[in-house]
Amino acid sequence: MARCKFFSLTETPENYTVVLDEEGFKELQPSEHLQVEGSVWLPLNVVSNGNASSSSQAVGVTKIAKSVIAPLAQQHVSVFMLSTYQTDFILVREKDLAVVIHTLEEEFNIYREVGGEYSAVLSQDVHNGFQKNGKECTVQERGMREKRAAQPTVHPVLIPPNQFCVMSLDPDTLPAIATTLIDVLFYSNSPKEGALPSQDLDCIKFFSFSLIDGYVSLVMDTEAQRQFPADLLFTSSSRELWRMVRIGGQPLGFDECGIVAQISQPLADSDISAYYISTFSFDHALVPEEDIVSVTEMLQQHRKEPDC
Ligand code: ARG
Repeated sequence: MARCKFFSLTETPENYTVVLDEEGFKELQPSEHLQVEGSVWLPLNVVSNGNASSSSQAVGVTKIAKSVIAPLAQQHVSVFMLSTYQTDFILVREKDLAVVIHTLEEEFNIYREVGGEYSAVLSQDVHNGFQKNGKECTVQERGMREKRAAQPTVHPVLIPPNQFCVMSLDPDTLPAIATTLIDVLFYSNSPKEGALPSQDLDCIKFFSFSLIDGYVSLVMDTEAQRQFPADLLFTSSSRELWRMVRIGGQPLGFDECGIVAQISQPLADSDISAYYISTFSFDHALVPEEDIVSVTEMLQQHRKEPDC
């Protein structure tokens, strides 16, 4: 997969989710076990210009909830989120790109990236062929604006007891953890020896690895983390442990919009950091461990009064 520049693999109890670029997709072996969401999605990411007016210390999707996620939901654009250690990717369908650019250009300078080169994009460009050539877009923050998404369906949530970490590592040391990585991803379904059954109660398997533009990102629970050499993985010093809110009772599909907005909006209102990872079946928000009680209450509140 040498030419693949965007690769992400996430294991959940239901399945494995792979998100990868066309180069990587071409190299995938066809398989009857592979279910493919047929449309082409483009990853957008926000490069903050260090907006001095924003006093928020929050990280992850919380920073883009009001400026990107809510406006797109309001325009009925379905997104697919992939937070990594480095950034938060908002994947949108190629067919929605004109609407996306139009929605975001009020507030952002929009660039497309092709082979490391950036060029400015205006909504009129989208109609002359950009949809065919566009690879990645970077939207740059210009200012903030308050907007509320239309009220979407309220999906059931699950809050497993696992504690998660969001980590990275020097890509040069990837070979040193390769066997552990494969082990944890593909051979760790049997209960761990020595683990008390009660500890595993209700814990869910969730492990995400991505290698995007040369940057590695890993999201795993503390159980999996123990299997990696401690000196190679690093995490940001501020926020160490995260709890998960899994969104969806039935598989969410790919067409519904507003699911991410529904979760990220109240988190942004309370200035609570969050990573957000969509998978083939469900969505997963990660919030700081110390905020899980208030997040749980907030979600319950939201469920009782869906109209406020
Ligand atoms: N499309 C949803 C939204 O716009 C998020 C993705 C849900 N679907 C999924 N398969 N994870 O909010």
